[in-house]
Amino acid sequence: MSQREQWSSKIGFILAAAGSAIGLGAIWKFPYIAGQNGGGAFFLIFILFTLLLGLPLLLAEFSIGRTSGSNAVDSYRKIAPGTRWHWVGILGMITSFILLSFYSVIGGWIVVYLFKAITGQLNDLSSDQYAEVFGATISNPVTSVFVQFLFILMTIIVVAKGVQKGIELASKIMMPALFILFILLVIRAVTLDNAMDGITFLLQPDFSKVTSQTILEAMGQSFFTLSVGVSVMVTYSSYLPKTQSLPRSAISIVAMNIFIVLLAGLAIFPAVFAFDLEPGAGPVLLFNVLPTVFSQLPFGMFFFIAFLVLFLFAALTSAFSMLEIIVSVISKGEPEKRKKWSWIIGLAIFVFGIPSALSFGILGDITLFGKTIFDLADFAVSNVLLPIGALLIALFVPMKMKKTALYEELKHGSGLKRGLFETWFFLIRYVAPFLIVIVMLDVLGLF
Ligand code: PHE
Repeated sequence: MSQREQWSSKIGFILAAAGSAIGLGAIWKFPYIAGQNGGGAFFLIFILFTLLLGLPLLLAEFSIGRTSGSNAVDSYRKIAPGTRWHWVGILGMITSFILLSFYSVIGGWIVVYLFKAITGQLNDLSSDQYAEVFGATISNPVTSVFVQFLFILMTIIVVAKGVQKGIELASKIMMPALFILFILLVIRAVTLDNAMDGITFLLQPDFSKVTSQTILEAMGQSFFTLSVGVSVMVTYSSYLPKTQSLPRSAISIVAMNIFIVLLAGLAIFPAVFAFDLEPGAGPVLLFNVLPTVFSQLPFGMFFFIAFLVLFLFAALTSAFSMLEIIVSVISKGEPEKRKKWSWIIGLAIFVFGIPSALSFGILGDITLFGKTIFDLADFAVSNVLLPIGALLIALFVPMKMKKTALYEELKHGSGLKRGLFETWFFLIRYVAPFLIVIVMLDVLGLF
């Protein structure tokens, strides 16, 4: 067997894993879900879930990946041979498939907005007009499917090239630029008139708005933004040499994510209130609000274009990880097969995702449980499949991995203290399964 690829540098792994984590979840999804769920209380619950469940689970996936050095399915096979635990990896592949099918719809929206911004079609519009132009664009069946295709095409091309050359190199450059641009945007947003209303909305919890649904959404959102529960992080950390600290990587990824979520919230909600827009506008929220904020900046269009490029990049680095996990299992690390399967699976995902793309136009009236096809796919992934995947991973680690070996694995390159290790183990063994089950049962009305 040929030697497995490894990340060429320490920072390469962090950037790629952070690239998978930071994407539409933090920037696009968080603001709109928070907007629909009353703001501050949702934000607080989201942070709690991220720290109590997301972070420990991220570390759990890292330990599985680096211990086994295999892909998402074989990792479980190696650690628990002769059992059915590898179905956790297969479930992750199915989840990723559905995930990318609707993720690419939003990726496509960024592409089309970028095109419109570059060709000057967005110059000098009012905030209402932005919403109008955008609504018309995404309801056009040809446009929405075509741009979804372009987004998937970019994903396929990078994943077909392989881990190192593709994902890592690309991740190195743009992430810091995105942070900087976001900070600029926040400064503009919080200095708008009435900005305070938006800041209060985001940061002041109002628990009267919290329902069991809100709690489930917050939990799903914390898994979604950290890419946890799909074994994507198992796959990525399997390429990692033993010299790197897993806890430090996990903490820095969580910190970056929370920071981006906060920046996204602070960029959007002050503007929503300043321009009298609707916080519960749904998936279109960011796309309706941000151009207005940019238009308030000197050289606004220029910055908006730069933002869209970086945003697109953040979405792509997440999309890579979704396709990567499927392709790495099926191609078993062989370069020729990787190319072929990247195309086959990528195109299958595109076809599967077409109805989601059309949900904002001609298929908009087709609903099940009051949800459009797009919303249904998102709900199935974020609030059902991710929590189930996360639950299984939380059960797998203490049941199938030896505690002493886990401690050794986490201590490599980090010098992790015993007390912290015990805390992590406790969270994974008791807190995570308990909380996930309670939240899910609660939503089903079983309490
Ligand atoms: N974390 C990604 C985002 O926030 C989404 C994702 C989820 C990617 C699960 C891979 C696996 O955009």
